[in-house]
Amino acid sequence: MYNKKYVIPLILIFLVGFFTPYWYNAMAGTFGHVPELKKPAGECVEDKDWMAANHMLLLQQWRTQAIRHGAEGGRIYHSFTTGEDYHASTNTCWSCHEGKEEFCDQCHDYIGIHPECWDCHYTPNIEKPHYSGIEELSKYFS
Ligand code: HEC
Ligand code: HEC
Ligand code: HEC
Repeated sequence: MYNKKYVIPLILIFLVGFFTPYWYNAMAGTFGHVPELKKPAGECVEDKDWMAANHMLLLQQWRTQAIRHGAEGGRIYHSFTTGEDYHASTNTCWSCHEGKEEFCDQCHDYIGIHPECWDCHYTPNIEKPHYSGIEELSKYFS
């Protein structure tokens, strides 16, 4: 019923197609710039691999906890890895990670996402306005 001369090529095409994503993933590191992350010494809030996969969910959980249950202790987060308590705030990240551009953006830019949290939340990279005193205003009135 079937045409023998097509069977082998079709199987080959199927195999190449099927395994391409695996080969791609295995080789992706050699294709171009993969960011090197500057990491602080010590341990993260949770296990490193858990953080890489879940930090966005952790931050969402912290937000809900802090805003909805702040009065009942929701602003304290108890790490299940280290057993330490952390302040459930975006600012906690900056107590170890140097800054958003040096750390978070290295990875986010690479994968092409731009979380909008920093329209409102503090990062160490924002330029603080310098105000030296009332004399500074005089230049606008001279
Ligand atoms: C439109 C402004 C705005 C944006 C955008 C925003 N937030 Fe917030 N966020 C707030 C405000 C206001 C609070 C309340 C501050 C408080 O009561 O401590 C808050 C509280 C939080 C808290 C708990 C308190 C703290 O100090 O951190 C977390 C965690 C949080 N936000 C995470 C996020 C994350 C993650 C994103 C991005 C996905 C985000 N927020 C985007 C305004 C914003
Ligand atoms: C107590 C210090 C500390 C705090 C607070 C902290 N980190 Fe970390 N973080 C680290 C260290 C140290 C590492 C590297 C761990 C390693 O390589 O074993 C790390 C690793 C990570 C990684 C994994 C990077 C990779 O190699 O894939 C992510 C993602 C991360 N942190 C996000 C966050 C976020 C988001 C916050 C705030 C909620 C935060 N960290 C708060 C110290 C901290
Ligand atoms: C190792 C890579 C990596 C590092 C480092 C990293 N992120 Fe992420 N981040 C991701 C990935 C992957 C996502 C999920 C993208 C998606 O779901 O489309 C993400 C998503 C997020 C989101 C959710 C955005 C949203 O709109 O819901 C927030 C918030 C966030 N990261 C904060 C941080 C902060 C703060 C740091 C630095 C302290 C950081 N990330 C460091 C890889 C990283």
